Amino acid sequence: MKYTVVRPLLAGAMLLCMASFSGCKRSRPAPSKPGNSTAVTSASHSDPWWKHAIIYEVYPRSFQDSNGDGVGDLNGIADRLDYLQKIGVNAIWLTPIYPSPQHDFGYDISNYEAIDPMYGTMQQFDRLVAEAKKRNIRVIMDLVMNHTSDRHPWFQESRSSRHNPKRNWYVWRDGKGPGIPPNNWQSDFGHSAWTYDAKTKQWYYHKFEVQQPDLNWNNPDVQKAMFNVVRFWLDRGVAGFRLDAVTCLFEDPQFRDEKVLPGKNEYGDPNIGEEMTNNLPQIHVVLRALRKVTDGYPGNRVLIGETYLPNIQELLKMYGKNHDENQLPMDLQVGFIDKLNVNAFRQKINEAETELDGNQPLFVFDNHDRPRSWDRYGDGLHNAAIARILAAILFTTRSTAMMYYGEELGMVTTTPKTKAEVQDPWGKSGWPKEKGRDGERTPMQWTPGKNAGFSTANKTWLPVAPDYKTVNVEVESRDPRSLYQWYKALIAIRHENPALRYGDNIMLNTSDPNVLSYLRKNRGSGPSVLVAINFTAQPHTVSFQLKSFGIAGTKVKTLLQDSSIAASVPLDHLELPPLTVYIGEVQ
Ligand code: NOJ
Repeated sequence: MKYTVVRPLLAGAMLLCMASFSGCKRSRPAPSKPGNSTAVTSASHSDPWWKHAIIYEVYPRSFQDSNGDGVGDLNGIADRLDYLQKIGVNAIWLTPIYPSPQHDFGYDISNYEAIDPMYGTMQQFDRLVAEAKKRNIRVIMDLVMNHTSDRHPWFQESRSSRHNPKRNWYVWRDGKGPGIPPNNWQSDFGHSAWTYDAKTKQWYYHKFEVQQPDLNWNNPDVQKAMFNVVRFWLDRGVAGFRLDAVTCLFEDPQFRDEKVLPGKNEYGDPNIGEEMTNNLPQIHVVLRALRKVTDGYPGNRVLIGETYLPNIQELLKMYGKNHDENQLPMDLQVGFIDKLNVNAFRQKINEAETELDGNQPLFVFDNHDRPRSWDRYGDGLHNAAIARILAAILFTTRSTAMMYYGEELGMVTTTPKTKAEVQDPWGKSGWPKEKGRDGERTPMQWTPGKNAGFSTANKTWLPVAPDYKTVNVEVESRDPRSLYQWYKALIAIRHENPALRYGDNIMLNTSDPNVLSYLRKNRGSGPSVLVAINFTAQPHTVSFQLKSFGIAGTKVKTLLQDSSIAASVPLDHLELPPLTVYIGEVQ
């Protein structure tokens, strides 16, 4: 797996800049209120919770600091649960909070069954889960099965001698000769994926940082130990796991070289293929066994795979032949092209609806590994309108929706300006071509006060983004036209409206190059919902024929929009101002 960071593309931006539309504004007309909701059909009540969930990714270091040390913590998250409940979040995914030397900010774990003191205590964790439960919010943990920290006692033992019983828990090999690694495999963090250990005179494999040795999943003891970790957290009441780097568990048993491809990557290494180290078929055996463990617990615990596969056929395999592996692979995040292209979005949404063999899609635009969508999709002129469009797609399609802290505010990517400021190991090894992921991990912006209300410390672990005085929860809560209010309104309507919650997703006007339109067709007797999104900076008028879908209505009652469209409009003449979202109930 290669985590390609796609930085904002100027070319994509240019296209929209050329169109005439007033400047880059965060505010737009206030969203009209969601309409009354009809009762949910009883047949749908059996759906597992995660099918309709809004999952909010919390990056604990950056969410809320409760003890003034400049780093976020568990009590800080607990203090903000009311906020998460208010916006309609059903689950939070916590990136790793286990003890860790923090080389890769928690993705290098030195103890899987404890909490890093920087974040708090196990008691505080239990309290967080209990307080979240009171608010109907579930807690999802990050499970890093591919590798541990080099400080984990398992690795310490493994490296202590070739005869140690844990030697075979990691991937050790002889080199090809003095100073020559076993093969050409590369780390995702740059350079060889092998590090020489002078004491035992062998090399160990690490798909990621030198400090993140890969576990050997061919060893049944590894699986046994990791599944005990899984039970430990399930027993504490967590709702499931996000499976970090899960496609990397196995390597080619013959340790053959990867294919060398033309050109060099951002670290200056030759480009190579990934056939020997990514997505090997054995992972499915592990995933099925893991699902058996989680399915042994009540409450529909969920597995969300960090899979990132090249096409829908591969993605389909991740769900398992009998829906018995991941419930929610995360691929559709990268499936979306990083620019506002109607056809590309239409194709992805349609694929998710028609080609997943009844499995549930998961849509996500932002996370802690990618520049924020505000910058990836934004053109520098219409970023606020574009952010509204993305949010509408996230919450009105038939997918589980995953969002990242601060996305609801329009937080921007704040890339470090000098190498000395960089915290992320990606940025340290890739500078200046690859500046790392600090930009998308800056502190949550709560208020216009000191450190944006994130911390009382004099210095926060990453600097607060310069726009925090206007882009923050407090200011945006008071502004009915803010992005934050738009998110709240969309999430509310998605939870309340049966067609948006359960309805089929039918693409409409499929050759329209400007407006993305789809119908959420109610499975029961209630009204269906029409979504029409003008992707361009020019006005467009659209018209719909819904008779072939069994819908006799000729009018749409406006439920939510970010412009000033009338409360009721004829289906055959809907005028959409530039970059506008329209959501209405067909009558
Ligand atoms: C994926 C995580 O999202 C990323 O932050 C981390 O660096 C790698 N896996 C390695 O664990």
